[in-house]
Amino acid sequence: MRRACVAGNWKMNNSVQESISLVKELVPGLDKIENVDSVICPPFIALAKVSDLIKDSKIELGAQNLYWEEHGAYTGEVSPGMVGEIAEHVILGHSERRAYFQDTDESVNKKILAALKVGLKPILCIGETLEENEKGRTGDVVKRQLTGALKNVSIEDFGKMMIAYEPVWAIGTGKAATAEGANQVIKEYVRDEVASLYSDDAAEKVRILYGGSVKPENAREYFQQPDIDGALVGGASLKADAFIQITEAAA
Ligand code: PGA
Repeated sequence: MRRACVAGNWKMNNSVQESISLVKELVPGLDKIENVDSVICPPFIALAKVSDLIKDSKIELGAQNLYWEEHGAYTGEVSPGMVGEIAEHVILGHSERRAYFQDTDESVNKKILAALKVGLKPILCIGETLEENEKGRTGDVVKRQLTGALKNVSIEDFGKMMIAYEPVWAIGTGKAATAEGANQVIKEYVRDEVASLYSDDAAEKVRILYGGSVKPENAREYFQQPDIDGALVGGASLKADAFIQITEAAA
């Protein structure tokens, strides 16, 4: 049995002060919910403060990106070691990073290897665009993204990761994928590719989240699907009530 996980990707939202207020509302609500892992991923500048606020709670902390070099003259970047000192997880390969900040399968792979080296647990995001979906290329795209991102990642290290299947056309649009459709992609393409890259056992064990317009109103449908183990939530993770309700649905 895979343990459910609901992760909140705050994206470029919430100042340090706003992060503090949101976390203070989340802690009592999420601490009551059993059998689900809760992860929150605030912007870099709020990580240290949020880490202090959640240290006695069950909430786990994630970052939204990192750069693969250990240190040096890379103005504006944050290293794996810096993130790993504070957080446990890191979202890598998010479609917004791929679309606006030149992340490629190759750079995502470098980031994953660097994250694993310092003990961070990557949450690898994959998913097809609307155009790729309409051309029937979903399977090819997610398989290419997985193969590229996981190059030289050992089976032991892969065991520390989660995958988030996030169709790009469903992110922030209110047009969520159907639960059956998302489950089918995850089962037929994502788990299948993991089985061929690693093993049937690895494919059975890896936790795969769905992401894209998950809300309290539709969350339960996803969690009822056999191959969906939780959600990566954007917009609805910015409201304590909504995020707590989605996590309750996963329990
Ligand atoms: P959304 O974002 O829930 O706002 O669609 C999901 C994500 O980008 O992780």
